[in-house]
Amino acid sequence: MSYNLLKGKRGIIFGALNDQSIAWKVAERAVEEGATITLSNTPVAVRMGELSTLSEKLNCTIIPADATNFEDLEEVFKKSMEVLGGKIDFVLHSIGMSPNVRKKRTYDDLDYKLLDKTLDISAVSFHKMIQAAKKLGAISECGSIVALSYVAAQRTFFGYNDMADAKALLESIARSFGYIYGREHKVRVNTISQSPTRTTAGSGVKGMEKLLDFSDRMSPLGNASADECADYCMVMFSDLTKKVTMQNLFHDGGFSSVGMSLRAMSTYEKGLDDYMAEDGHIIYG
Ligand SMILES: NC(=O)c1ccc[n+]([C@@H]2O[C@H](COP(=O)([O-])OP(=O)(O)OC[C@H]3O[C@@H](n4cnc5c(N)ncnc54)[C@H](O)[C@@H]3O)[C@@H](O)[C@H]2O)c1
Repeated sequence: MSYNLLKGKRGIIFGALNDQSIAWKVAERAVEEGATITLSNTPVAVRMGELSTLSEKLNCTIIPADATNFEDLEEVFKKSMEVLGGKIDFVLHSIGMSPNVRKKRTYDDLDYKLLDKTLDISAVSFHKMIQAAKKLGAISECGSIVALSYVAAQRTFFGYNDMADAKALLESIARSFGYIYGREHKVRVNTISQSPTRTTAGSGVKGMEKLLDFSDRMSPLGNASADECADYCMVMFSDLTKKVTMQNLFHDGGFSSVGMSLRAMSTYEKGLDDYMAEDGHIIYG
């Protein structure tokens, strides 16, 4: 259902890979709400992925860019303004990847070169994106910039590894740049902290299926889906949230505010024997 929330607005959506991607759903919803958009992803993802299907469906241009490359990002903003015919009203950063997770390096055995990459791809790219846009004067007054985060930025989740550090940095960048951009141009910068979601990036998280089940049971409203995340993005891109900035907004069915439920406590009590080694040592997970 469309509310025309983004009627006449121009946007850039970074990070749609396939129809499971959160960015894919956001792109579809944004067009449904009346926006015109461009899409961006890495040259490899554009060549190998399914982005052309989405661009044909939504009749929008793809501008390839490695989000760790400042010049690439400048090109995305310049071309988007050209193609869409004016300044950009909203941007979605939906980018994340940890080479340490891919190579199964645990948090106490990180490869530091790979950690640099994790932070560059998943967090510093957000800074580069905003800095490129600001230097080009590419975002319109009262524009809205959103990146996607996860609660592992605040709390420890086994297996989320160095992505937790990347998300903490991402949220900090939203605050630091949000202050400057808000003060100077009334541009909002926020992160949305989304429930675990079945996507390509999500499937890289160790124990993802169990995590999905756990957080679904622990959340009074259940896990938020990618479609619901897209709905929330529409509100954040719209004029209804003009005074919301520098926030990390939880979109997680209430998960982040729950301590322990009776059901979870009983299950936890019953299941701990599996995590005891023969010599009596606890196997930490
Ligand atoms: N899936 C989840 O459980 C979940 C939960 C909370 C937050 N998030 C976040 O949502 C965002 C989107 O992830 P998703 O779950 O939709 O998975 P996804 O795999 O569909 O999207 C990740 C995207 O990042 C892109 N990417 C990777 N390296 C890049 C680079 N150098 N330059 C440009 N793009 C690059 C990939 O091509 C891909 O399109 C990520 O930031 C992720 O951390 C996901």
